Amino acid sequence: MKVKTKQATTNRKLCKNCAYCKNAIKCPGEEFCVVCKSCIDACPQSARSFIEVEKEVEEFNLLIDGEVYTVFENQTILNVLEFLGYKVADYPQDDAIFTPCKTGGCWSCAVLVDGELKPSCTTPIEDGMEIVTDVEKVTPQRIITGFQGHHVGGVGTPKNIEATSPLGYLEVACFASGCLYRCPTCQNWEAVYLSNSVSFTPKIAARKLSAIRKQFRVNRIAISGGESTLNRKWLTQFVSQLKHLNPDYSARIHVDTNASILTPDYIDELVLAGLTDIGPDLKGIRLETFMKITNLKEIDLAEKYFTTSWNAVKYILDNYYDQIFLGVGIPYNKEFMSFEELKEMGSKLAKWEPDLQVTVLDYRPEFRAQHIKRPPEHEMKQVKDILNETGLTDVICQTLYGYIR
Ligand code: FES
Repeated sequence: MKVKTKQATTNRKLCKNCAYCKNAIKCPGEEFCVVCKSCIDACPQSARSFIEVEKEVEEFNLLIDGEVYTVFENQTILNVLEFLGYKVADYPQDDAIFTPCKTGGCWSCAVLVDGELKPSCTTPIEDGMEIVTDVEKVTPQRIITGFQGHHVGGVGTPKNIEATSPLGYLEVACFASGCLYRCPTCQNWEAVYLSNSVSFTPKIAARKLSAIRKQFRVNRIAISGGESTLNRKWLTQFVSQLKHLNPDYSARIHVDTNASILTPDYIDELVLAGLTDIGPDLKGIRLETFMKITNLKEIDLAEKYFTTSWNAVKYILDNYYDQIFLGVGIPYNKEFMSFEELKEMGSKLAKWEPDLQVTVLDYRPEFRAQHIKRPPEHEMKQVKDILNETGLTDVICQTLYGYIR
């Protein structure tokens, strides 16, 4: 049967042949495009887009949660589930499949496919597939990359500590793929959109990172991203496993996050699991700035993420500031944030806790924002002065030449 559908294609005038869409993204190929949109979101040159096509398609029979359904091929499992009335949500809710990244990295949307866990948002349907959506009792997985030692920590690393490793390493870290933002300035986009890579259970990832900790002789163990919090079950078990494998008092378990879904009960769960250090990132104090940085288009959803991130900082200050280390990050570039807004942010944070560590990240040209200029050192000094003047005592500004403290 012939149907009208879409197919991702490349604009050859924009493509720079980086091959990210071929190598880093799990894709069945243009001819078999399942309209998942991963390549369109991930292409640093914005060279991928959908075109309307008419295709000869076959009908596939799928066994989903014990029922047989007949649907057209060239679709993702998630598309089919949505079509069949399964509830799907971009903000976590109990009765819905949570699909925050939709690019095959976080596996929050994972289902059992012929007995094997797979992300529903990018996995193509196949004739005869058996799909089970209740994965409550299944060990979670997600794509994790970049297990290595780092000389500089993240936002949630106390900046007054010295490296413990003889080689000058401060911590070991890994990066979780998948993010719910679409920042044109994304500073780690190659990890964010990576889906054609190894998925890890929390236990295996924790073992790997703990082994590297021994090798690099550091106290600090970190996860960043992408957005580390997207798959709640995975992250909670990962932190718990890290705690189990690193029971010594000096071990610090550190999560860097944009805090967009970090609700109070999630924070409680992470602290209980063994979290000791956290670095939430606040992308503006005005919703319009937040939406500009994140490139989120739906105002209600953006507002939820934005509000949750600010509330997370307040909740940690009110409930855990004497128990875990909290350091807040602010991305800065004059392209998206004014000095007035920085002042507003500083004043709000200083009112909550003047001694809170605030790290301002000088956003450089990356991903789709090659036109921006990395803020020069003198501008970052101005940023620091502005924030100090609001009453914040512990402001650190990142520059090309290191931190200004
Ligand atoms: S929503 Fe499917 S992998 Fe993240």
